[in-house]
Amino acid sequence: MQRLVIDGEKKLSGELYVHGAKNSALPLLAACVLARGETVLHNCPRLSDVYAACRILTCLGCKCVRDGDSVSVNTDSLSHFNVPDELMREMRSSIVFLGAILGRIGRCRLSFPGGCELGPRPIDMHISALRQMGAMIKEDHGILDCDVGKGLHGAKIVLSFPSVGATENIILAAVTAKGSTVIHNAAREPEITDLSRFLNSCGARISGYGENSIYIEGVEKLSGCDYEVMPDRIVLATYLSAAAVTGSELTVLNSRVSDVEAILPVFEQMGCIVCPYSDRIYISAKRSLKAVKTIRTMPFPGFPTDAQAVVMAALTKAKGTSIVIENIFSNRFRHVDELLRMGADIKAEGKVAVVDGVNFLSGAKVRATDLRGGAALVVAGLGAQGTTEVSDIKYIDRGYESIENAFSSVGASIKRV
Ligand code: UD1
Repeated sequence: MQRLVIDGEKKLSGELYVHGAKNSALPLLAACVLARGETVLHNCPRLSDVYAACRILTCLGCKCVRDGDSVSVNTDSLSHFNVPDELMREMRSSIVFLGAILGRIGRCRLSFPGGCELGPRPIDMHISALRQMGAMIKEDHGILDCDVGKGLHGAKIVLSFPSVGATENIILAAVTAKGSTVIHNAAREPEITDLSRFLNSCGARISGYGENSIYIEGVEKLSGCDYEVMPDRIVLATYLSAAAVTGSELTVLNSRVSDVEAILPVFEQMGCIVCPYSDRIYISAKRSLKAVKTIRTMPFPGFPTDAQAVVMAALTKAKGTSIVIENIFSNRFRHVDELLRMGADIKAEGKVAVVDGVNFLSGAKVRATDLRGGAALVVAGLGAQGTTEVSDIKYIDRGYESIENAFSSVGASIKRV
């Protein structure tokens, strides 16, 4: 089993490039199902989750080919509507294929995503919305069997919570449905905007994305296009956290400031100098870190739950007491026990973690328990005295393109063994 071995407390300096966003690439690859002919996604990250999405496309009968940073998907030979159970288990977010497959083929069979590392992963909002649009969905022994009969139709959908995945599934189902759909209390995450812009480039008619209500006029068909995947805002937050915890100076290229407006003030409160430019962010963390008052994870434009763990890793060395409140997932503090092994002082109960800054962290053997929690251990390891070994790094590979090469390139001592 592979591990990351980190010799901590090395100063980082130079430039890091943010790769394409996992959470955008996945729904975009699902959306390719709807587009006739060929679609080319540029800046498509080399991540295990992206490879899993490509395998789903291949199982459906599409041709999916990677050439450097680009992935082309040709749907001319698309003929199947089953997503194999092992692929659903490998990547629970593959539920986003449901709306796309229904929109294109009218039938879909896949297994229920079940629970995951972050806690239960219900899809009640997805199912209820698709039913309102005319889908007949049977749930039997963990399998979802869906059929649209004479076709999907538009509907007025009010979400009880702005779920990212449900918003994506509804958009995907609605773009070729008959008539108009409106989604109230829609998710506003930048990845929703990226998906909507991509679909519009394929011929869809979506407006209001990035706001509370999204309007979709169904069109007859979509055609493939060339599209550039947005940069990954959580990778950006990880790089900023690494700069903070090591007291370093970094310039992070391919950064979209508008995507991280809730994150940057946290680094400023920690005492870092943060200079956002149009496509890059400079951070200097030369002074010792200070605690921040309270971080509450919220749907966008609030502080993202995905950045909670990496920022907490930086806060372990911030003088004073920081409070972190996790409002989105019920089981998202699993990195805390591992950070404790490294000498952090954190008390977590329910949705609240109290982080008391310590003068130093000490390297230890730790285990990644989920994707962002794993990245947090890497961040902590970079800022810790001595050697840290992070195991179960398959989680980290789901969302970071060889994280060790990125950090080595700016002076860290980190290798995969
Ligand atoms: C997406 C992201 C994930 C991120 C999350 C929140 C992808 C591939 N994943 O996940 O990285 O952490 O958004 O920003 O883009 N819920 C229900 N019923 C539903 C749907 C969701 O109760 O039908 C609950 C979930 O359990 C969770 C909350 O709503 O507590 C938010 O989930 P959601 O926004 O749907 O997250 P995902 O789309 O799964």
